[in-house]
Amino acid sequence: MSTDPTLENLLDEHRRFSPSGDFSAQANVTGAAYAQAATDRLGFWDEQARRLQWETPWRQTLDWSQAPFASWFVGGTLNVTVSCLDRHVAAGNGERIAIHFEGEPGDTEQISYAELLARVSQAANALTELGIGAGDRVAIYLPMIPSAVVAMLACARIGAVHSVVFGGFSAEALRSRIDDAQASLVITADGGYRRGAATALKPAVDEAVANCPTVKHVLVVKRTGQDVALTDLDVWWHDVVDRQPITHTPASFDSEHPLFILYTSGTTGKPKGILHTSGGYLTQAAYTHHAVFDLKPETDVYWCTADIGWVTGHSYVVYGPLANGSTQVIYEGTPDTPHQGRWWEIIDKYKVSILYTAPTAIRTFMKWGDEIPAGFSLRSLRLLGSVGEPINPEAWMWYRHNIGHDNCPVVDTWWQTETGAIMISPLPGVTAAKPGSAMRALPGIGAEVVSDHGEPVSNGGGGYLVLTEPWPSMLRGIWGDNQRYVDTYWSRWSQFYFAGDGAKLDDDGDLWLLGRVDDVMNVSGHRISTTEVESALVAHPAVAEAAVVGANDETTGQAIVAFVILRSGADIPTDVATELRAHVATEIGAIAKPKKILVVNELPKTRSGKIMRRLLRDVAENRHLGDVTTLADPAVMMLISDGMAAGTEQD
Ligand code: WT7
Repeated sequence: MSTDPTLENLLDEHRRFSPSGDFSAQANVTGAAYAQAATDRLGFWDEQARRLQWETPWRQTLDWSQAPFASWFVGGTLNVTVSCLDRHVAAGNGERIAIHFEGEPGDTEQISYAELLARVSQAANALTELGIGAGDRVAIYLPMIPSAVVAMLACARIGAVHSVVFGGFSAEALRSRIDDAQASLVITADGGYRRGAATALKPAVDEAVANCPTVKHVLVVKRTGQDVALTDLDVWWHDVVDRQPITHTPASFDSEHPLFILYTSGTTGKPKGILHTSGGYLTQAAYTHHAVFDLKPETDVYWCTADIGWVTGHSYVVYGPLANGSTQVIYEGTPDTPHQGRWWEIIDKYKVSILYTAPTAIRTFMKWGDEIPAGFSLRSLRLLGSVGEPINPEAWMWYRHNIGHDNCPVVDTWWQTETGAIMISPLPGVTAAKPGSAMRALPGIGAEVVSDHGEPVSNGGGGYLVLTEPWPSMLRGIWGDNQRYVDTYWSRWSQFYFAGDGAKLDDDGDLWLLGRVDDVMNVSGHRISTTEVESALVAHPAVAEAAVVGANDETTGQAIVAFVILRSGADIPTDVATELRAHVATEIGAIAKPKKILVVNELPKTRSGKIMRRLLRDVAENRHLGDVTTLADPAVMMLISDGMAAGTEQD
């Protein structure tokens, strides 16, 4: 072997699942798309851009002369919302339901495309009246309610740039994002429903905007009716929006006109505003939604469970599905309110056929027990998707069996806030998918796994995931900081976009994501991915969820420490830690055996469900806890560190 300390390739997974003949026969996309895109990549994207309604056609598909700053569909103009709304109404589909809204308390709304266009037109008129114009930034801080979609589209309609801030973020997080974007308007609500109660949003906005001189108005949606202290900046949505005309003549904007900024975590405290533009972004959001979810606008009922505060909510709740004329479900609340079967009840109620969710949710359902989804029909489902983290093979199998009843293709979709849309995924009618693998780059996308030296690794090897060709929905930069864009993504290897993730290729050349490279452990000189050890642990019938970290160790450099959550109702062995260590040794090898295993009830997660390994490392190394403010539930860490102090060590 070479001395290149590239990631080891440890887990071995041989199961694969082909789509049924019936599914393949009706699929939107066939295997021919790979060959077509390989022969003429730009011609392929040119064809996909024709899915949208353009005002003026583009002269050039891609201008990469200013790399890494791309321009796609150069010279073309469009209004993004015309592709998402007006053209469906003009085609006679105005009565089709765009949104089945389910509030957490059980209130519902059915919104047709005609109705959604009317609401967006009114909101666009209201924004104009409030002095917002093309290029102005608007911060959106709302619960998962229809007005959130309307607010985003109203911005897009007038060429204003939205910056959605997840409603669970603090006043300070909101303030720093408003400040970085110099937003002139904030759209918020009195509150939203979560876990059976009305949770206030407005006080955080008041606190944030007190220090944001750029903000001229705060537009407030009444959702819960709770008491709100009004300030001079505030205007009620129902006062200013509801009296507007229900028509609005859209202007067209350049293909590269900014559509939105979305802040994502960076290594420094300064917010990192990922910038997306119009024509290329919508092209890839629409194409991937059509290809990966096999969306049939006339018959499917689609449900992506992401909040609009995340990029998944932008691309696969708002822009992709609406561009494709989909009927979709939007749910406001948490999966266990008022009971742990709420999602399955919603699927049966609306006959959801396509479900797109995250591994963290799937593992939570595993923990709650198989009998909960078993109490529902779920017969309407025909396709399942996953996003946000590597999905452990056992979680994939559980999802396929308990939710998909073994007859739905499962698509594990890899992408990022920065990529704007799905990059790596099975094609549901084509790919014989392997549990836990995102399989291969979509048609028109270039991805490779390379070594430290930037050389492609061969099959069976591990390394760094890079993107080798510009793609239509790629970020166009970091808001206000082009140099940071170049430094963050294009400096490790100047010819590749480096995504920050480790990956391996199996013997067939299929891709397995191994998590962030910052999370890779080094045990006695072996670079081992936390994901693989976690997957081995979750493969044990007693384990629902696992988080693995490398803790400093005098002998081995780092030692593997595992935190596990047990499955409710499972047979728990008396010495569970010993049994699990032996299990990992069988699944992977002795090198990957955790030195310590701690059974916990919860894991520290960010609001988007990603495990915060940094905090677990603090605990594993007996350090004082670092910053816990981005945790969904800060109390979790106290319980874990108390347990750690009482834990036992083994070799
Ligand atoms: C990071 C991006 C993509 C929208 C939601 C997250 C991880 C995402 C997968 C997947 C393995 C995945 C990566 C990526 N990730 N999807 N299918 N398999 N890892 O967007 O917050 O920008 O996070 O999430 O580490 O780099 P994000």
